[in-house]
Amino acid sequence: MIRKAVLPVAGFGTRCLPASKAIPKEMITIVDKPVIQYVVEEAVEAGIKEIILVTHSSKGAIENHFDKHFELESTLEAKGKTDLLDALRNIIPDDVKIISIRQSEPLGLGHAVLCARPIVGDDDPFAVLLPDVLVDDDGMSRNDLAGMIEAYETSGQAQVMVENVARELVYKYGIVELDEPGLEPGKSTSLIGMVEKPAVEDAPSTLAVIGRYLLPGAIFPILAQTPPGAGDEIQLTDAIDSLRSETGVSAYRMQGETYDCGHQLGYLEAILAFAKRHPKYGTEFDDLLTRYAART
Ligand code: G1P
Repeated sequence: MIRKAVLPVAGFGTRCLPASKAIPKEMITIVDKPVIQYVVEEAVEAGIKEIILVTHSSKGAIENHFDKHFELESTLEAKGKTDLLDALRNIIPDDVKIISIRQSEPLGLGHAVLCARPIVGDDDPFAVLLPDVLVDDDGMSRNDLAGMIEAYETSGQAQVMVENVARELVYKYGIVELDEPGLEPGKSTSLIGMVEKPAVEDAPSTLAVIGRYLLPGAIFPILAQTPPGAGDEIQLTDAIDSLRSETGVSAYRMQGETYDCGHQLGYLEAILAFAKRHPKYGTEFDDLLTRYAART
């Protein structure tokens, strides 16, 4: 079973400035929770028990968010504010541990994942979740990450989650090459190539890696040998492509929606999607939308 997940959160979030100047971009709020909490909830729902944050000295707010705040809890308890107290105590279940380790230099996503090696070890498979991407699996009985874990366990192959993107956007993503086109949502198939941020004319497909990976511990020695690639950074995509030639790697096509919270419109769309169905604010938010839609 895959029980460990690595969340690289050390990046400065320059695309989110000025919002991310003094708070981590992962702490920006979607309705009533920070982005990172949605990502941790997605991992926990798929059975993850150890969340490993690969972080930076400026990102202490993320660790604080998942830690117990004793004084705040005592104050809420004394005032009888049980709803708020429950919301704080339920941020993560008691059996889920948050562990952090630093990435002291911004050498790329591959390097960030490699920083987790002393905690994950070379023998266990693990998940990687990029917290810029929110995966919305509303209404599904099992989330995409859990579907991917099942595909890993059945095939024994590393998995990368993909979705179709517009051809003109392929230069922003890792792009996979499949044996045959037409991979159905919820299905997984072996891939024959993977390239990081290709030029539009060089992209082998329009299936983009959207920030969820399941990898064996064997990726670590490969990462340790991976030279800088696109953007002069150590790329996880390059290491996964080497792993593919050794043991095979599969692409899992997601069923849900994604919101790229690494930029402003992605946040706004995520806020719309989550606010509209929020149990407490959904109805009034819909009224707000109607009122604003009527304005010229
Ligand atoms: C990273 C990965 C890329 C992936 C993307 C998903 O890129 O390197 O392969 O497609 O995340 O969001 P970044 O967005 O960090 O440049």
